[in-house]
Amino acid sequence: MQLIHSVAELRARLASEPPVAFVPTMGNLHAGHLDLVRIARQHGRCVVVSIFVNPLQFGVGEDFDQYPRTLEADCAQLDGLADVVFAPSVAEMYPAPQTMTVTPPPIASELCGAARPGHFSGVATVVLKLFNLVQPQVAVFGKKDYQQLHVIRQLVAQFNLPITIIGGETVRAADGLALSSRNQYLSAAERGAAVFLSQTLQTVKQNLCAGVRDTAALEQQALESLAQRGWQVDYVAIRSQATLAAPAPGERALVVLAAARLGHTRLIDNLEICLEG
Ligand code: PAJ
Repeated sequence: MQLIHSVAELRARLASEPPVAFVPTMGNLHAGHLDLVRIARQHGRCVVVSIFVNPLQFGVGEDFDQYPRTLEADCAQLDGLADVVFAPSVAEMYPAPQTMTVTPPPIASELCGAARPGHFSGVATVVLKLFNLVQPQVAVFGKKDYQQLHVIRQLVAQFNLPITIIGGETVRAADGLALSSRNQYLSAAERGAAVFLSQTLQTVKQNLCAGVRDTAALEQQALESLAQRGWQVDYVAIRSQATLAAPAPGERALVVLAAARLGHTRLIDNLEICLEG
């Protein structure tokens, strides 16, 4: 495995490479990231992982400075799994102010986009830059960030990028909490309580599968049960998998998504639900 920090070196290294499968990350890797790298291995002869904490996607007062940067440990985990790790500096990625940015579709202003204005523009912009640098045939993203995956699929479709996007399943801790680099911000007590987010989504799923169709009531119930346990809820929303809009009558491929704060830590999770005919 080769660690590369500069764009020039990356271009030289990839010039002679066979088909590339790419996994963009912000580092502080956990088993969820490594799963995506294993998926990438099935789709490309050269696996490239980027590690870059992208300032463009963090809002004022968010955790850009605090975000864990653990390059050495990340490289140790990737040794034997990835061929190239691209870990540019902010100056390497943004040698000039990024005055041209991607405007994501309106759905990016809902759900997480409502609480984090500009976030998905920052994500789409850096991912477009990374795609242009790495020029992969395949790129793998986690369903953990379901709305992000949707925005990336739109980026690729609407700009005709010749890249196949693959969604990897969410990897969870034994108690059901979705793995996230932000879980380490949780105190021991918060970590114990954090499982309630995925349990709440499971309850919504059970109700939908049992035939309850009042999605607004289910969202409200879930929101209240989280709030009762001290969570500050951004949203609980039942949406269409395909569009992330409110489901059309009779639509069966649904997803329930939630974002909520436990203390100072904002956690997100989601669960796909396929209703039977
Ligand atoms: P990051 O949060 O590091 O996540 C990198 C990739 O890992 C994303 O595709 C994310 O969905 C996936 N991932 C995170 N937790 C996961 C889990 N528990 N199971 C499966 N996959 C998981 O997402 C970003 O970085 C950035 O926004 C990025 C796309 C790199 C652009 O800066």
